[in-house]
Amino acid sequence: MVEGMDTPASSLAVPTSEGIATFSPGELRAMRDEFQRFLLEYEFGLREVETKLGILRDEFQQMHDYNPIEHVSSRVKTADSLVEKVTRKGIDPSFDSIRVGITDVAGIRVTTSFTKDAYRLFDLLTQQDDIVVREVKDYILRPKANGYKSLHVIVEVPVFLSTGRVDVAVEVQFRTIAMDFWASLEHKIYYKYDGVVPDGLLAELKDAADSAALLDARMERLHSELHGPRTATVRAV
Ligand code: GTP
Ligand code: MG
Repeated sequence: MVEGMDTPASSLAVPTSEGIATFSPGELRAMRDEFQRFLLEYEFGLREVETKLGILRDEFQQMHDYNPIEHVSSRVKTADSLVEKVTRKGIDPSFDSIRVGITDVAGIRVTTSFTKDAYRLFDLLTQQDDIVVREVKDYILRPKANGYKSLHVIVEVPVFLSTGRVDVAVEVQFRTIAMDFWASLEHKIYYKYDGVVPDGLLAELKDAADSAALLDARMERLHSELHGPRTATVRAV
């Protein structure tokens, strides 16, 4: 409620590019409900992809006595972060435009022990026939200049609601423990310096990314020496 405005006591006056807009309590409730429903679709999209990953992990364990997934975390973007991104990207603030323009409202991070597992899980997820791949960014094959490595994919997964089917975009990031360790430290440093990281520190980070990549290669070599190359054959019973 903006003081001094000529609006009914329970209405909300909001400055917009076209002047002051006022909303009645009923309109505000409808907007809140619509926003909650918008976010809920992404929550359901996450659940669908998490279930798929959980099934792959359990089946892999049963078939190969091996768990390719170290950790899975997921999040729906907060309202604040969504508003910030919509503004930064100059996207029309309507739900339809946001659905098209912001593809990481729902995000899942899959941490694996080895690079091979990141690609294997990527293949097993994206080959499922209810999944549509919208975009792939392979920062493992082509790391970012700062050293960032990760395999990103934006998938669309169908979610069946009482009102019908919606295809929900979910960003899935696959990376090893070493890549994840590096990315979380780089993220903290980036925020501490507000995006302007001193050159010396940038060089150290790049060097640390190279060390992490060497460690990944070494651990993977040791692992395959121990277990032999894993095959997709069913164990004899
Ligand atoms: P966004 O607007 O951030 O989504 O950019 P984009 O669409 O070009 O996305 P990109 O696929 O490059 O990156 C998406 C996400 O990957 C980010 O939100 C981060 O979670 C992660 N990411 C990308 N680059 C970096 C990086 O250099 N460092 C770290 N720590 N994370 C990164
Ligand atoms: Mg993105």
